[in-house]
Amino acid sequence: MRKQKPVRFFIRTFGCQMNESDSERVSGLLHRAGGIAADRPEDADLVIVNTCAVREKSEEKLFSYLGRLAYLKKRRSVRIAVVGCVAQLRGWEILEKYPAVDYVFGPDNAAELEALAQRDVALKSVSTSWSEEWHETSPELIRRESRASGYVTAMEGCDNFCAYCIVPYTRGREKYRPLASILDEVRDLARKGYLEVVLLGQNVNSYKDPDSGKPFAEMLKEVALVDGPGWIRFLTSHPKNFRPEIAEAMADIPKVCRELHLPLQSGSSAVLKKMKRGYSREDYLDIVSLLRRLMPGISLSTDIIVGFPGETDRDFEETLEVLRTVRFGSLFSFRYSPRPMTEASKLEDSVPKEVKQRRLAEVQFLQKEIQLEDHRRLVGKTMKVLGLGRGRKTPDLYSGRNENNQVVNFRSAEDPTGRFVEVRITGFGPYSLVGEKGG
Ligand code: 5AD
Ligand code: SF4
Repeated sequence: MRKQKPVRFFIRTFGCQMNESDSERVSGLLHRAGGIAADRPEDADLVIVNTCAVREKSEEKLFSYLGRLAYLKKRRSVRIAVVGCVAQLRGWEILEKYPAVDYVFGPDNAAELEALAQRDVALKSVSTSWSEEWHETSPELIRRESRASGYVTAMEGCDNFCAYCIVPYTRGREKYRPLASILDEVRDLARKGYLEVVLLGQNVNSYKDPDSGKPFAEMLKEVALVDGPGWIRFLTSHPKNFRPEIAEAMADIPKVCRELHLPLQSGSSAVLKKMKRGYSREDYLDIVSLLRRLMPGISLSTDIIVGFPGETDRDFEETLEVLRTVRFGSLFSFRYSPRPMTEASKLEDSVPKEVKQRRLAEVQFLQKEIQLEDHRRLVGKTMKVLGLGRGRKTPDLYSGRNENNQVVNFRSAEDPTGRFVEVRITGFGPYSLVGEKGG
C-alpha cells in the first residue's frame, strides 16, 4: 500500500480559554494521528475552526471567516471543519448555508476529530452528540501554545441557566473531571517546567470530585501541593457559587494568585433578578469586601452586559456606581444580544441599539480612567512577572503578566520566557504596564 502524505492542519480558535484549551487538545490528537501543523490556512489540507456562540457578534465573526475560507477553497483543495459551540448550536444548518464546510463537530466530539488526520471521515458529516462521561486526553499529548502557563480543565458545562446565556445549550450540563486526572495533568506541567496553572471550567467554583465529592476549595489545596508551578489561577467564577470557603482557601494558599475574574453583568439588583443570576448588588459587594479583607491588594476583573431587556438609565447608573466602588483591574463589556433558546430571547430586546452603544462607550470610558489612575500608581514599583514571550504589539519588548494578571511589556537583556523575573515599572497605558527587567 502506498503511504499517504501526512495531513497538514491549521486551527483557528475563537472564543474563551476553554476553546483555546480544546484546540490545544485537538492539535495533539491530530499530531498523534500523523498530522502536521501548518502556520497558515493557505498551507493546510485541513482547516479546523473552533467557534464561539456566546454573542451574536461571535457568530458573525465566524461567518465572515468562513467566507474567506470558501474563497481559499476555490483555489486549493482543503477540507474545512467547524467545531465547538456554534457547531453544537447550528449543526446541519452550517453545512446547508456554507457549502464550503465539510464537517461539523460539537465541543464534546473533539476526540472524533483525530480521524480527520487519516482522511477517513465521510465528507458532509455532523457529530454533535453529548456524553455524560468525562473524556480524558492523556496530558502528554496536548500541544500547548505557551511553555510557561498551562490550562487544565477541571469541569465543563453549566447548570446555571442565566437568562441571556447560551452556554448550557452548547456545552451541556456540568461534568466534573476526576481530581486524580487533574493532578496528573498538573504534575505533567510541573515536569515540563510550567510555572503557572490555569484551572478552567464554565462554572469552576461548583467543582466536585466525582470520586470523593471533594469541593472546589479542596481541589485547589491539592493542586497547590504539586511542586513546581508557582502560580495558580482559575476561571470562571460565578458570584452565586463563590462560597466564603473559596475566598478562605485562596487566602490560605500563597500560590493562588491575588486575582479573580468575577462576572458582575449588572450593578442593578432588578436587572440581576431578570438575568436569573441568583445574587443582588449587595451580595456581590459583600463578596468583594470579604475578598479584600482576606487578601488586601487582590485585583478583580469582571464582565458587564449593557442593554439587557428592560435596563433603564437608573439601572445602568447603578452599574457605573459599582464600577466606581469596586475599581476593577480589568473589564470586558458587551452589548446584550438575544441568543437562541435562552429565556431572555423571549423578552423584547427593548433597549435601542444606539442606547446600548452609548452605555457601552460609557462603561469603557469610565473603566479606562480607573485603569489609568491605578496603573499610574505602579510606576517605580518592582514586581514579579511571569515571562510569556515577545509582545504581540511590541515585538521589541518581552511580555508577561504579574500576579494581578496585568500585562507587563518590558525590556530584558536575556529571554525571560518561561521564567519569573523582577520588573521595574517605568510607564503605563490603560491596558498594560511597561517596565525594565532588574539586574
Ligand atoms: N449578550 C451579550 N453578552 C453576553 N454574554 C453572555 N451572553 C451574552 C449575551 N446574550 C457575556 C457575559 C459573559 C461573557 C462571556 O459574555 O458577560 O460573562
Ligand atoms: Fe463561547 Fe461560551 Fe462556548 Fe466559550 S463556552 S466558546 S465563551 S459559547
